[in-house]
Amino acid sequence: MTVTKRNVVVIGATGSQGGSVVAEFLKHPHLYHIRAITRDPSKPKAQKLAAQGVELYCADLEGDREALTAAFSSAHVIYALTDFWQKQSAAAEIEQGKAIADAAAGITTLQHFIWSALPDPVALSDGQFLNVHHWKGKSLITEYIQTQKPDLWAKTTTILFPNYFENTLTDPQRYLPVKDASGTYNLRFPHSPQTVLPNVAIRDTGKLVHLVLESGSTYFTKTIAFWAQALSEADKLAELGSYYNVPIHYHASSASEFQQLLMTRDGMSEDIALDFTEQLLIFEKCGNVYAREEFVQARDIPGLKLQTWSEFIRQHKLL
Ligand SMILES: NC(=O)c1ccc[n+]([C@@H]2O[C@H](COP(=O)([O-])OP(=O)(O)OC[C@H]3O[C@@H](n4cnc5c(N)ncnc54)[C@H](OP(=O)(O)O)[C@@H]3O)[C@@H](O)[C@H]2O)c1
Repeated sequence: MTVTKRNVVVIGATGSQGGSVVAEFLKHPHLYHIRAITRDPSKPKAQKLAAQGVELYCADLEGDREALTAAFSSAHVIYALTDFWQKQSAAAEIEQGKAIADAAAGITTLQHFIWSALPDPVALSDGQFLNVHHWKGKSLITEYIQTQKPDLWAKTTTILFPNYFENTLTDPQRYLPVKDASGTYNLRFPHSPQTVLPNVAIRDTGKLVHLVLESGSTYFTKTIAFWAQALSEADKLAELGSYYNVPIHYHASSASEFQQLLMTRDGMSEDIALDFTEQLLIFEKCGNVYAREEFVQARDIPGLKLQTWSEFIRQHKLL
């Protein structure tokens, strides 16, 4: 039996999520023709993809809308994300998302739209947290697809992303402990030591997306909470300390101390530091909101094996 290849367009293919999706699709060359969108096809990460047979397509989510429509032409599958952190503006992120949804809605060949999102922080916290703009913008895009693009929504699977284990590699100053003069490794977060957050190895994104696509319409209109383990930063630190056999100390900062640290250490603006801190406090005040019944739990999807923190720390040199 011959299998017809599906044309998949991946936004963010040179980044963490999209890079994992492309890596997984490359393992199934009989199933997928991959088109990667990048603003700069000459960058090394894009050139590496081209060398593996990925078609590169130059487009900017904030550029000409016709270019985005052309980038999606003949697509059977689109993996879509927006990037809050470059401009740190919810308005810019919402515009990116609407441009993607508008263009995708006009693609007659489209069978499945996979949308990378975050939940509504206001609804989840019963109005306690109003400043988590990098979640809120994404949730407004989800709402836009659902209410304004019903035909697209009918073939959309929304995936909620949690804390990446790989943040320890991309932002070590924030996610890894720092050794003091006495040799103790110290980590500060605005959480009690018991507060758990959903975590995943972002390199597992492709595995999830491939299984979702293979499941046909099963996950259309569903929201999948993508996480492997609910872990506290204190427990992650303890395991790291024990693996490297070093003394550790977890400091539960107050929200204002942590916000100040993000401003002085990481150079965040006051607004962005508040956004980042409040996102963490949602888990402190409301528990592991990703585990709520309204979401399909990725851990329950048959055949999906996700990496654990123990496995991750053995695979990477973190200290
Ligand atoms: N880190 C976390 O723990 C975490 C957790 C949940 C959700 N998120 C969300 O994940 C999103 C970022 O995804 P990621 O981690 O995969 O990002 P990433 O590794 O930083 O890569 C960003 C990707 O987005 C593409 N991109 C950015 N702006 C673009 C534009 N204007 N037009 C076209 N492409 C653009 C880049 O492509 P080129 O540079 O090649 O053009 C790149 O491939 C953010 O919105 C963030 O809020 C992160």
